[in-house]
Amino acid sequence: MPIADRSRNVSPNRPPFSTTGSYKPDTLQVADELHPVIQPGRVVVITGAASGIGHAAALEFAKLGFKLALADIDEERLNSVGKEVSAIVGNSNVIIVPTDVSKLDEVVRLRDKVYETWDEVAVLLNNAGIGARGTSWDGLDNWHSTFNVNLFGVVNVQQTFVPAMLHQENQAMIINTGSKQGITNPPGNAAYNASKAAVKSLTEGLAHELRERPQSNVTAHLFIPGWTFTGLAGANGTNPKPDGAWTSEETVLYMIDKARQGDFYILCPDNETKRQMDELRIMWAAGDVAEGRPPLSRWHKDYKALYEEYMREGLALSDNGK
Ligand SMILES: NC(=O)c1ccc[n+]([C@@H]2O[C@H](COP(=O)([O-])OP(=O)(O)OC[C@H]3O[C@@H](n4cnc5c(N)ncnc54)[C@H](O)[C@@H]3O)[C@@H](O)[C@H]2O)c1
Repeated sequence: MPIADRSRNVSPNRPPFSTTGSYKPDTLQVADELHPVIQPGRVVVITGAASGIGHAAALEFAKLGFKLALADIDEERLNSVGKEVSAIVGNSNVIIVPTDVSKLDEVVRLRDKVYETWDEVAVLLNNAGIGARGTSWDGLDNWHSTFNVNLFGVVNVQQTFVPAMLHQENQAMIINTGSKQGITNPPGNAAYNASKAAVKSLTEGLAHELRERPQSNVTAHLFIPGWTFTGLAGANGTNPKPDGAWTSEETVLYMIDKARQGDFYILCPDNETKRQMDELRIMWAAGDVAEGRPPLSRWHKDYKALYEEYMREGLALSDNGK
């Protein structure tokens, strides 16, 4: 039987497209001004705050009236972001803590500084990340450094901050930055993809553990940016933003909005990839396992036509459903 027919026959019925992609208990649906966590005067800790998405997050949380603890390995750029946000919220509401998130003692120092200064954290944004290209069997150093920052950076911060956050009386949230690459696994960045798949897995586990606690006051969220024009995505300060990418500001505003609504999976679109495309791609990737196709069949020449048809049909269906 040809591959296309075999795969068709065992395809599950596709679930209908959601219009919001948002599943949460009603209790979390509160008016913006009543949100327990996204509130002026509360504290946000941002790792990787010196550039890109972290920099934009610092600016947006400053505009919301937060107190900010900014951490990054790049001290010079961090200081410059610190000056920018101090101009919005005032010097006394900003602390700058140069931190390498892959080093546990530096993360402990960051936590101690934050709790000594403000004795609370409302939003913990685990955003620091690196992404070098490479294959599965070369660049061992790249594998180590990618995991040390993207995975162990998040683990270090979680291990250090969560026990303190659980002891707070007021509510708080942890937002870990994953990636679509950690879900659909496109070829070309094996170490990065694997590290982000691990971030997805550990954040899902964290969310479960937190919600199982009696009177839990901390929630976890997986922030999945779309294509965002930052240093990590090819911006070098002089080249123009490609039309398909979002600015860091757009991505951060979307993230804050969805965090405020209580979403766990904060799956961001961009100018090239709308939500329905992501939904189809994610279901196709899961279908590799469920339907017994080869891994990464989306990029497999024998499945090219089938995949393209699946996307065409899926998008037409979702467009008609609007
Ligand atoms: N830009 C995108 O399209 C995109 C898409 C999906 C996910 N992401 C994720 O978003 C996050 C932010 O990335 P970005 O796109 O803003 O890139 P960026 O390079 O502009 O920012 C990353 C920041 O992390 C800092 N950093 C690197 N190693 C560190 C360490 N050991 N300790 C502390 N800070 C460190 C860098 O100095 C930099 O300031 C990353 O986790 C990235 O994987 C980005």
